[in-house]
Amino acid sequence: MFSFSFSNAKRRAWLRGLDGARRWSAPAALLGALLLAAAAPPALGDAAHHDDTKPQSREGLGQVYMGLAISPTMGHPGARRLVRASDVREGLTNRVVAAMDLAADAEVADIGAGTGYFAFRLAEQVPSGRVLAVDIQPEMLAIMRERMDERGVDNVDLVLGREDDPELRSNSIDAALMVDAYHEFAYPREMMEAIVAALRPGGRVFLVEYRGEDPRIPIKPLHKMTEAQARREMAAVGLTHVKTQSFLPSQHFMVFEKPAAAPER
Ligand SMILES: C[S@@+](CC[C@H](N)C(=O)[O-])C[C@H]1O[C@@H](n2cnc3c(N)ncnc32)[C@H](O)[C@@H]1O
Repeated sequence: MFSFSFSNAKRRAWLRGLDGARRWSAPAALLGALLLAAAAPPALGDAAHHDDTKPQSREGLGQVYMGLAISPTMGHPGARRLVRASDVREGLTNRVVAAMDLAADAEVADIGAGTGYFAFRLAEQVPSGRVLAVDIQPEMLAIMRERMDERGVDNVDLVLGREDDPELRSNSIDAALMVDAYHEFAYPREMMEAIVAALRPGGRVFLVEYRGEDPRIPIKPLHKMTEAQARREMAAVGLTHVKTQSFLPSQHFMVFEKPAAAPER
């Protein structure tokens, strides 16, 4: 499943196409530009839940949410690094997926799926369910498509999300997993509100992030989160903290739940 709404990435791709199409007549180009403007999502700018007054990181997006600088997106040129699995990562992936304790028919979204490292493991856990592998980079989806074909996986749907919306249907998923992805969301509040809307009542969010409290973990602070920060940000969208587990050497494994009576978006 691909979503065909006009994401920023798609708009950029279309713009690249426009660039190569200077041979278009001027009126056609003007019409294209008008359509493009009409299709653009509302500029979030001031409406986004970013802090204006906090010091901004030189390496980050220049945006801060609830006091924490937002990291830039890991670009697809680094994607092969995610595919090349180390044995250590293999083992940890299995532990993460086992800890999610999913029913065989669960519908689960892997948001910020990258090359599908977790999505394919999840697919094995839900043989009669589905995995929605969401990413904003079409190149990541292309790599996952290749890997799905190689492995003959048929219960993963690829979803091209937008920076502020994972493009999931309301009340359609039992769980959402984000591994090393949430801290990259340019619009964390908008993303989480949409994820909460997509969860069924009682649905769970699994958040895996490098531990911000531990200076020995050799990862830039921009790519880490403290448990307290994550709990604040999840509480802000109405999620209840269930537990935080420490079976991973460097990351928090945090579990949140959508209350049964959470208001619809
Ligand atoms: C560091 S990679 C992690 C990939 C994967 N979870 C893994 O552990 O192998 C982060 C991914 O999040 C994606 N991403 C960033 N912002 C996103 C958003 N708003 N919605 C969906 N994916 C996003 C990036 O494109 C990138 O593929």
